[in-house]
Amino acid sequence: MQPTGASEELIPPTMPAVYLPAPPSGKNRKPKPSNLIYKADFPTPHCTETQYLVKVSATALCPGELEWPHLLHRRENGAVIGHDICGTVLSTPVADEHLPDGPRFKVGDRVFGLIELARDGGAADCVAAEEEELALKPQNISAVEAASIPLSALTAYQILCEHILFKDSMKEYGRHKDLPFRILILNGTGDVGIQAIQILRSKSIWRGYHIWVCATTTTTEHERFLRDELHADEVLNSVENPDLAQVWKHRNWPQVHLILDCMGGGALSRACIQGILDKAGATTSALEAICDPDKHQVEGGYFGVKPNGVQLGMISKLVEDGEIKPYVDKVFELHEAKEAMEYVESRKARGKVVVHVNYD
Ligand SMILES: NC(=O)c1ccc[n+]([C@@H]2O[C@H](COP(=O)([O-])OP(=O)(O)OC[C@H]3O[C@@H](n4cnc5c(N)ncnc54)[C@H](OP(=O)(O)O)[C@@H]3O)[C@@H](O)[C@H]2O)c1
Repeated sequence: MQPTGASEELIPPTMPAVYLPAPPSGKNRKPKPSNLIYKADFPTPHCTETQYLVKVSATALCPGELEWPHLLHRRENGAVIGHDICGTVLSTPVADEHLPDGPRFKVGDRVFGLIELARDGGAADCVAAEEEELALKPQNISAVEAASIPLSALTAYQILCEHILFKDSMKEYGRHKDLPFRILILNGTGDVGIQAIQILRSKSIWRGYHIWVCATTTTTEHERFLRDELHADEVLNSVENPDLAQVWKHRNWPQVHLILDCMGGGALSRACIQGILDKAGATTSALEAICDPDKHQVEGGYFGVKPNGVQLGMISKLVEDGEIKPYVDKVFELHEAKEAMEYVESRKARGKVVVHVNYD
């Protein structure tokens, strides 16, 4: 079935795209940024009857993306990277044609979103998107900035607001200033950490709550950024303070109720071993489950983000209200996506790496 809202001659059958090709047969080597291919005539996506076709202005890349199982499973035909997108609606779902108000988003609407990781992403001229993956783009920021937000902000929002903080076991914390909810964020300057701190500082989400946030970094110049720009209560340089338990002891800090791991490499297990987590506390990781939950006797594990247009709409409002800001470290053009992914994988970015696709 053909999408509605754009005449077919406006949608060419092929488009420029950057994709990860199928691995050579019999080999299952870890994919590298150098494996990415820029193709000027990649097939334009065919929308199902529930999908929008979006002309992509910009997409953002995520560390580890090339190894996501969703992407590896569908590599037979090559997988387009970049699941954060900002763009313009070119066509709307056929299924919505007979709704009294028509489709939720109209042709020409500026949208941003997180595309389900199991489908092709936005490092391409166009992307097919389901309604629940999209929200209207915040009006006060550019397309490049908007593309930097969905994946990290939804991850942080879903971990903090859905998964952990509103659980019954956590309800007694944060309601009084003498008993604040205490959170340790491992790697506060990656984009998930940045978005998590901004969400925890949002007055509209946490009206009446008291939240104490400590964030770690490995770089001296980032300490000031975390303290002055993001308003973390405490910042620890984890190179200078490898033994976090010593810091807690020396400073007489109470244990934390949540450790949010945005770093990986066993950092979460080490932090729990060091006994800084309250007995009733929880841990959650954007990268890996704790190696031995029984030994640590903690609740929590790996968390995987899901696209959610309603939550993204709320995040868009927080951006327009100035409570969440985009942090873009570097911008590349589509034909430079390989270099962009190399930079992402260097894990030097403070904030997000964005690939610019179409000028508006
Ligand atoms: N599970 C999910 O649903 C989900 C969703 C989104 C992202 N993720 C994952 O979350 C992880 C974090 O991604 P991100 O975008 O926030 O940022 P990131 O690129 O992992 O973070 C970059 C920051 O990490 C710090 N860093 C780099 N190497 C380090 C090391 N060896 N030791 C300690 N710190 C180091 C640096 O900050 P300093 O210089 O300040 O230390 C750098 O600025 C990624 O693995 C990503 O795949 C998961």
